[in-house]
Amino acid sequence: MENKLVSSWYNLQTSVPSSYVQPPERRPGNAVLATDLKIPVIDLGGEDRDAIIRNIIKSSEEYGFFQVINHGVGEEVVEGAMRIFKEFHAMPMEEKIRESSKDPNKSCKLYTSSGRNCQDVARYWKDSLQHLCPPSGQFREFWPQKPDGYRNVIEKYTEELSKLGQKILDLISEGLGLGPKYFDGDFSSDPLVISHHYPPCPEPSLTLGTSSHKDPNILTILLQQEGITALQVRKNEAWIPVEPIPNAFVVNMGFMLQIISNGRLIGAEHRVVTNSGTVARHTIAYFINPTKETLIEPAKPLLSANSPPIYKSMTFGEVLGYFMNKGPYFEPEMRL
Ligand code: OGA
Ligand code: NI
Repeated sequence: MENKLVSSWYNLQTSVPSSYVQPPERRPGNAVLATDLKIPVIDLGGEDRDAIIRNIIKSSEEYGFFQVINHGVGEEVVEGAMRIFKEFHAMPMEEKIRESSKDPNKSCKLYTSSGRNCQDVARYWKDSLQHLCPPSGQFREFWPQKPDGYRNVIEKYTEELSKLGQKILDLISEGLGLGPKYFDGDFSSDPLVISHHYPPCPEPSLTLGTSSHKDPNILTILLQQEGITALQVRKNEAWIPVEPIPNAFVVNMGFMLQIISNGRLIGAEHRVVTNSGTVARHTIAYFINPTKETLIEPAKPLLSANSPPIYKSMTFGEVLGYFMNKGPYFEPEMRL
């Protein structure tokens, strides 16, 4: 069962198998929830560009997260992508494995739990499909061809998300004082899309869907299924639940943006809890990633005698190596 997709056996369980039980300090059942706090919601369609920039920077400094509405991505594109990923995870296991294993270099893959090669203390209650999705169309030949229409639907979705990502990064770079277009090019040319599938769970207080982690990228734009609140953002010792809002995306700073901004913007810790309802939760994470060769370091224009760099320079490939082997707690490795 260990390596089998959770979706292939979860419905036979009345309790959580012991390998999925988190140590007491990580169990959602023992956590403090900050239900009085809310991740800010930013209207990207607003007239006042300066106000939008100020709100984005403030939210990114305080929480590392915000939600966006009026973001310009068509509802039918969003619904189409959510529908096709749900259909993908509902296919028989052999078919899912076949459709996601077309690239020997694994630019597309299907995995369960964290997919990391380090020893996690416990397993995670989810299955994920991920693949590269650059606007150039490279790697498209390795994407699933089932469910029917997959490639067209996901191509459209990732094209739209690429535009939205560029728009948000422009606002962030202006807000930081780096001018527009700072993140165009190498910082954002290797995007990745991940479709997460969190089946219902008989004992949500004992287990997690995703570990507490900081995203090891520049920026993440997440589409949450409506009706289930399961994503939680850490603020001090408490967890803020991120409620799904219709037609909104959740945006969070990746840890690379924390480094580039020399610690001003937060790559916040977040995690996913499971739910005991009757339906699975699905999310689509669009990861804006640099190329492996891109040097990640505090941006030179932000440094001065009064604000010296607090992080080392490393290529993105080196950072990813730490993340994959050491798990989510890789920050100390990056400090000067
Ligand atoms: C991620 C992530 C949250 C979710 O993919 O990095 O944090 O709710 N996903 O699926
Ligand atoms: Ni994340």
